[in-house]
Amino acid sequence: MDFNNVPAVVTGGASGLGEGTVRALAAKGCKVAILDLNEERGRQIAEEINGLYLHCDIASADSVEAAFAAAREAHGACGIAVNCAGIAPAKKILDRDGQPMPLDAFSQVINVNLIGSFNVLRVAAADMACREANADGERGIIIMTASIAAYEGQIGQSAYTASKGGVVAMTLQSARELARQGIRVNTIAPGIFMTPMMAGMPQEVQDSLAATLPFPQRLGQPQEFGLMVKQMVENPVLNGEVVRLDCALRMAPK
Ligand SMILES: NC(=O)c1ccc[n+]([C@@H]2O[C@H](COP(=O)([O-])OP(=O)(O)OC[C@H]3O[C@@H](n4cnc5c(N)ncnc54)[C@H](O)[C@@H]3O)[C@@H](O)[C@H]2O)c1
Repeated sequence: MDFNNVPAVVTGGASGLGEGTVRALAAKGCKVAILDLNEERGRQIAEEINGLYLHCDIASADSVEAAFAAAREAHGACGIAVNCAGIAPAKKILDRDGQPMPLDAFSQVINVNLIGSFNVLRVAAADMACREANADGERGIIIMTASIAAYEGQIGQSAYTASKGGVVAMTLQSARELARQGIRVNTIAPGIFMTPMMAGMPQEVQDSLAATLPFPQRLGQPQEFGLMVKQMVENPVLNGEVVRLDCALRMAPK
């Protein structure tokens, strides 16, 4: 799929991997809308790339529908949708006193990471289905963000792992279902990337995380996530696939 002047929507675009994606797509000539809860940073980045910021909670049906409608009004129906918004709070199934994790803590993560991903996928698909197909019959591409925790969930990651496992499972299913409309669906499963979440950790924690990476022994950069997004957009036969982007890391139990 081409990039030039194609309307793109990036959730979580105000930070980290989403910001890397926004900058990569804008540099290729896409008209980018950033959907995020972080208004200040979202507006700042939108201004820099001559794009659009829209306040949006991906876990809310109304909010995502309204944001896509506003993006369509400004840029036209979306051809590229990348869902990067997500949260990663950690909590053990049993706490130190043997008390079970509050169910709400689990539901909150599922709500944002899994239900939110589906929410963006369904609204993006409806938008893309209205677009004119290219010579290949393609109308759009949806890219979701999972995590290698979908495969090697660590201690304290029950909710996060379940949410990302759901995103992985949805990938092939939705690619099959949306094939009729000429919409591809792929997912990126990142390992460890240097984003504001990681940058906030002490240097020795960052170094010890990097030491677990086979090669290269450093955290991934948001622009390297953006590179994979561009490849997924560009390569018309890449569909229904989850790509690990992880320096060959296989995470230990903790
Ligand atoms: N950084 C990593 O090492 C890493 C590894 C594996 C997976 N991931 C996944 O990549 C995605 C991006 O992670 P990141 O490190 O860039 O995080 P980040 O915290 O830097 O950025 C996440 C962005 O999502 C936004 N957001 C959160 N909840 C939202 C909601 N309900 N609606 C709209 N926006 C919301 C935040 O405001 C923020 O701008 C997440 O899904 C995360 O689980 C990250």
